[in-house]
Amino acid sequence: MIKINNKVNIIKQYLKQKLKKMTSNSYPLLYSEYQLGNIILQNRIVMSPMTRSRAIDNVPNHLMETYYGERAGAGLIITEGVAPSPNGVGYPRIPGLYNQEQVEGWKKVTGAVHDKGGRIFVQLMHTGRITHPLNLPEDAEVVSASAIAATQTKMYTDQEGMQPLPVPRKVSKDEIAGLMEEFAQSAAYAIEAGFDGVELHVPTATCLSNF
Ligand SMILES: Cc1cc2nc3c(=O)[nH]c(=O)nc-3n(C[C@H](O)[C@H](O)[C@H](O)COP(=O)(O)O)c2cc1C
Repeated sequence: MIKINNKVNIIKQYLKQKLKKMTSNSYPLLYSEYQLGNIILQNRIVMSPMTRSRAIDNVPNHLMETYYGERAGAGLIITEGVAPSPNGVGYPRIPGLYNQEQVEGWKKVTGAVHDKGGRIFVQLMHTGRITHPLNLPEDAEVVSASAIAATQTKMYTDQEGMQPLPVPRKVSKDEIAGLMEEFAQSAAYAIEAGFDGVELHVPTATCLSNF
């Protein structure tokens, strides 16, 4: 049985290499390196951010390490939306980057990607009013720029299924510096966790920056 498995693995490797050669021969530019700021991407394929909702208690886990590691053949991976603070956790089981436990979880993810020559940016995403109290960690609250609920959509919760969105608490001008600080602290955690850069997910624009 072991012998058969070995042979199957050898054939799989052969086919994988052959496919890689075929595609890189057909699209030489796509498969050529790219200098992005001070980092080099192994090719020009970028994986877009996709929420997967697999982070139990908002902590990156082994399943996510495997998922991102398997996709490290892309030149650059941008992670799923990641909450920079407990108030920014909009959807059930989305990961955060606001405490040490999360940093340790992300270290495994970035390690799995770097081991295969890939690069990875974290997408920092504060969900604002697009959340439900049931999705938030303890002591977190629904905040936004104005006290107006988003009535045209609903939010899934693990506990009670689809729910209407609540009226958020309007943040004061004095709180804005604190919100910015949450992003800055999360970016500092991103460096500690081994990320190559951050993407800021904001309603009107997307900003990419490598470290
Ligand atoms: C399952 C799924 C999850 C997604 N999650 C995110 C996300 O966390 N952050 C984000 O900015 N975009 C997210 N997107 C949007 C994708 O990044 C977007 O669809 C992709 O960039 C392709 O763009 P297009 O749909 O305009 O072609 C998600 C898309 C899908 C299908």
